[in-house]
Amino acid sequence: MPTLSLNKQNRTYSTWQVLVSILVTFIFIGLILAVAVAAMTPVGQSVGTFLRWLFAADSLQIWWYVTRASGIIAYLLLWLSIVLGLAVTSKYLDGMLDRLFTYDFHEFISLLSVTFTLVHVLVLTLDRYLPYSLAQILVPFISPYRPFWVGVGVIAFYLTLLVTVTFYLRNRIGTRVFRIIHVLSLLGYIGTTLHGYYAGTDTALPSMQILYKVSSLVVLFLTVYWLVLLGLRKVETSRQAARLDASAIHKHHAPVR
Ligand code: HEM
Repeated sequence: MPTLSLNKQNRTYSTWQVLVSILVTFIFIGLILAVAVAAMTPVGQSVGTFLRWLFAADSLQIWWYVTRASGIIAYLLLWLSIVLGLAVTSKYLDGMLDRLFTYDFHEFISLLSVTFTLVHVLVLTLDRYLPYSLAQILVPFISPYRPFWVGVGVIAFYLTLLVTVTFYLRNRIGTRVFRIIHVLSLLGYIGTTLHGYYAGTDTALPSMQILYKVSSLVVLFLTVYWLVLLGLRKVETSRQAARLDASAIHKHHAPVR
């Protein structure tokens, strides 16, 4: 049976793949710089005025809406990442997806969740009704709005960030430490859920109530399933060890003819 290796050091990239990645990165940075420079010209400023009119971006609440929308997307991505992560250990998607793919997808979705969280929090600095300072975003419990539950979100974000960063340090820190840190993602998820639920303006909506409750129940169910499997695996390992011990003792005491 082929064995699955999740060791990223085994992966190699061809020269053209590296070159294309570098090229795409440069094009992307170039485009951002070009847009920034163009925005300063009189034509750019007129386009800016038009876009602000088109998207009602002059309204007082626009950035608050963006914060809320990106927060909900970040939450859904984090949820998906947890579901995929538990699938890697519990193997319940193995019949449908290659486990290496599930692992890679899990890693990618985590990164995407972090990206949307960055949008979610950085946009707070642009808000004109309740502008956040960088300190109010980075330091837990000093937010001008619902400080406790926003603080819980800040801590949950740090936990998620730590877990995401260790994807890239797995070979350095070793699988054991990687797994221990990875368990923290569950705490990060719980913190994020409580944060969204108690700090969110949209929590009152029936759709958001269903979203938070159903997603949390799925994670609870999958976590219990994972723990039960873990327990069963431990029992099986200790049974095997006991059987090996017993056969070693039997051999030792067997009469020599
Ligand atoms: C530095 C960390 C964070 C800060 C400062 C922060 C800030 C906030 C604030 C001020 C709100 C209230 C917005 C509203 O009126 O709805 C909020 C809501 C929310 N946040 Fe965060 N947040 C952080 C981390 C996170 C993370 C890591 C996630 C998800 C992965 C997240 C998801 C949400 C969700 C789902 C809502 C509810 C949105 C709604 O009800 O419309 N937040 N956050």
